[in-house]
Amino acid sequence: MNTVLPAIVLIFSLCHQAISIENKFPDDFLFGVASSAYQIEGGHDKRGETVLDHYQRLDPSIISDSSDAKIACDSYHKYHEDINLLEYLGVDFYRFSISWPRILPTGYSNKINPDGIRYYNNLIDGLISKNITPMVTIFHYDLPKPLQDLGGWFNPTTADLFEDYSKILFKNFGDRVKFWITLNANTWGYADPMFPPMLNLSGLGEYLCYKTILLAHAKAYHLYKKEFRDEQKGQVGLTIDGRWYHPATTSTNDIEAAERVREFLIGTLANPIFGEGDFPKVVKERVAELSHKENFLKSRLPQLSPEEVDFIKGSYDFLGLNSYTTYLIKDDRSKDNWDSFSESKDLGAKLYQDPEWPGSLSDWLKVVPWGLRGVLKWVKDKYNNPPVFITENGFSDSGELEDEGRIQYYKLHLEALLEAIHEDGVNVKGYAAWSLLDNFEWMVGYSEKFGLFHVDFSDPARPRTPKSSARWYKSFLTRRHLAAAAAKTEL
Ligand SMILES: *[C@@H]1O[C@H](CO)[C@@H](O)[C@H](O)[C@H]1NC(C)=O
Repeated sequence: MNTVLPAIVLIFSLCHQAISIENKFPDDFLFGVASSAYQIEGGHDKRGETVLDHYQRLDPSIISDSSDAKIACDSYHKYHEDINLLEYLGVDFYRFSISWPRILPTGYSNKINPDGIRYYNNLIDGLISKNITPMVTIFHYDLPKPLQDLGGWFNPTTADLFEDYSKILFKNFGDRVKFWITLNANTWGYADPMFPPMLNLSGLGEYLCYKTILLAHAKAYHLYKKEFRDEQKGQVGLTIDGRWYHPATTSTNDIEAAERVREFLIGTLANPIFGEGDFPKVVKERVAELSHKENFLKSRLPQLSPEEVDFIKGSYDFLGLNSYTTYLIKDDRSKDNWDSFSESKDLGAKLYQDPEWPGSLSDWLKVVPWGLRGVLKWVKDKYNNPPVFITENGFSDSGELEDEGRIQYYKLHLEALLEAIHEDGVNVKGYAAWSLLDNFEWMVGYSEKFGLFHVDFSDPARPRTPKSSARWYKSFLTRRHLAAAAAKTEL
């Protein structure tokens, strides 16, 4: 009998299968979209003042188009419509954030706003009625102003107040919310005067914030584990900035500089929680060495006590990464002997982007899909392959309805994500496109748009219109695989 033919058929079907698996996301992979309260809700008169509100009120010109977020997308009143848009897309989950000053107008736990509780109950119930899983960010850059008067993220008390606020959320919403992101962690405004609270304190500012953020996260995590997890059976993670840092050349110095920059800009938050505990070794050594040269009596990097290290270490169910772009890293320690200090001096490197990389409307956002694969592989290798959610990934333009650039961006990044999953074995569980709607893009106001849906901000009704990218994402979500990749992304 002819045994060759069945063998050929077998090989053919194996190859065929291999190709389709490579282009397919795992069956339990979750797709969603993301937003944040301050950027979309409006309804500012029904919540307390945030730090950004305060500075914007004092000087509207701090926002590049002198706009504000008082109404924004008016999702406070139009959340029903938002839920319908999510249903139209066919997403598995919706990542949104809860506004701290809407739940607690002064920031403190002694005065709860019942309308705030009602609003999020309605939103959560509406999502669940459409089979959309809520993923809640507890804090996304909307600190109540009274807490800034206490020093904000410089003050460790903020971690305790954050724990109280988290407890109120777990109590009120935890019966239905199974994914909690404690913080969308960043140090905006404490080390660069661009963002409120507009403090120019780099070299100390970032590090003080990191410590309070780590404690806030770990307190909420342990509170949930102790008082809520058995009954509510949810997961708690943290979202950090997942941009990628790639050596500019193959020189040992640049390779080491890129790794140093990753440890500073990813590892300071990730290593204490997901890694071996405490700030990364190279960060501790480098800041101590430079602090000494600068005649400080101690390192500018605050210490974590052994108890704090233990408390923070392992306090996660998943890691959230916001991934948009990549920087090239060139070793540069030429300022090591200066007596001024900053985090950028501590990095000992120049960060820049290749002018050849395709851009977006945002000057910082270059389209570098292989960077997504790079950061995913790095956290896998570094932190023993934790479960990861891409909690943001997106592209900016001026809001056109035919947004080919955004579709291309998503396609290329989903391809890179497939490679991370199938070729690098990264444990990625889900992906959230940023963002559902065009919205208030912080210091650039409404001048850079990231939405799948257009919002007409000149119309009081804030009508939403699907862009080409919304139709594309909807159609992708019915298939959940990509056409064979045109070219492999390369590291
Ligand atoms: C921030 O502080 C540094 C060091 O004091 C100074 O050189 C720089 O000009 C300041 N930047 C701004 C924007 O104020």
